[in-house]
Amino acid sequence: MNFNIAVIKGDGIGPEVIKETVLVLNKIGEKFNHIFHFTEALAGGCAIDEKGEYLPKETIEVCKKSDAVLLGAVGGPKWDNLSGDKRPEKALLHLRKILELYANLRPAILFEPLKEASPLKDEIIGKGIDICVVRELTGGIYFGEKGSKENGKKAYDIESYSEEEVKRIGKRAFEMARKRKKKVISIDKANVLESSRLWRRVIEEVGKEYEDVVLEHMYVDNASMQLIKNPHQFDVIVTTNMFGDILSDEASMITGSIGMLPSASLGKDSIGMYEPIHGSAPDIAGENKANPIATILSAAMMLRHSFNLEKEANAIEEAVTKVLNKNYRTMDIMSNGMNLVGTKEMGRLIIKEI
Ligand code: IPM
Ligand code: MG
Repeated sequence: MNFNIAVIKGDGIGPEVIKETVLVLNKIGEKFNHIFHFTEALAGGCAIDEKGEYLPKETIEVCKKSDAVLLGAVGGPKWDNLSGDKRPEKALLHLRKILELYANLRPAILFEPLKEASPLKDEIIGKGIDICVVRELTGGIYFGEKGSKENGKKAYDIESYSEEEVKRIGKRAFEMARKRKKKVISIDKANVLESSRLWRRVIEEVGKEYEDVVLEHMYVDNASMQLIKNPHQFDVIVTTNMFGDILSDEASMITGSIGMLPSASLGKDSIGMYEPIHGSAPDIAGENKANPIATILSAAMMLRHSFNLEKEANAIEEAVTKVLNKNYRTMDIMSNGMNLVGTKEMGRLIIKEI
């Protein structure tokens, strides 16, 4: 089959990790008889430099015409002095909003050969960790009213959710749990926040339609502690935009490295956006040091969620596991006795396994 993919390399290590991922997808195409058409588009800091805006209209058009969007990372110190509404990160937020990608799936899986890289003790890790964070992505404090008053002496960002917004993300989480260990933990701050009390009530209502799935609620402060203390109690986590941003970084670290974890952002249409959860890592950009695995695994999620190509997605994931089992490591997941490889080598090794 033929698929159209919009490719946004972005800034920092974005271009390097995307390059390897495109090569991996081409290999999958060759092996399973698909043609992937890639259309490059600019967003983030590089778009500011070349076009004067973080998300040019052409980029939006390219994305809308595609079957899926593959994104590297945006942002960097070069653009840190720009005011809040001009920053490259805004490109991401706008794309999520324009494409209505309200559901952000962030699986945090500890790959057995990477146990060493996790900061948790062996007895806490046990047989491995497998958590899926379902983060609400187009609402909450990220998109609420914001501004400043009193000549910049005061500033505010409003957290607000509607029943409808909570309901649709809740459904996604329960559907996801059905395919997994049938447990949802919803994370909020209902002891303090009104918006969290609405969140909890709506999730509770959605839960009634999924009697086969166990539902629990947890306050976000407790959840951040429980993730470290006993990660095994979590299967699917559903939470707000802000809490999901924070908790997904925490969940990623317990699995060893943020450089390993992919994400899928989905909406009601079939277009999905796929990106690593890590940032642009400007400190190592252009040095062939970045770990391309998170982006390569994001491509696997794209094959599965947007194109329905389960076999092909598995082929990528298995190849990654094989390379790790053969003790190849990029800098971020390096430990004693392993073979250190760069971005390109890691990409080629994965392709070889496919
Ligand atoms: C993420 C990132 C973004 C977010 C930033 C870069 C805007 O941290 O995808 O988790 O906060 O959503
Ligand atoms: Mg984040």
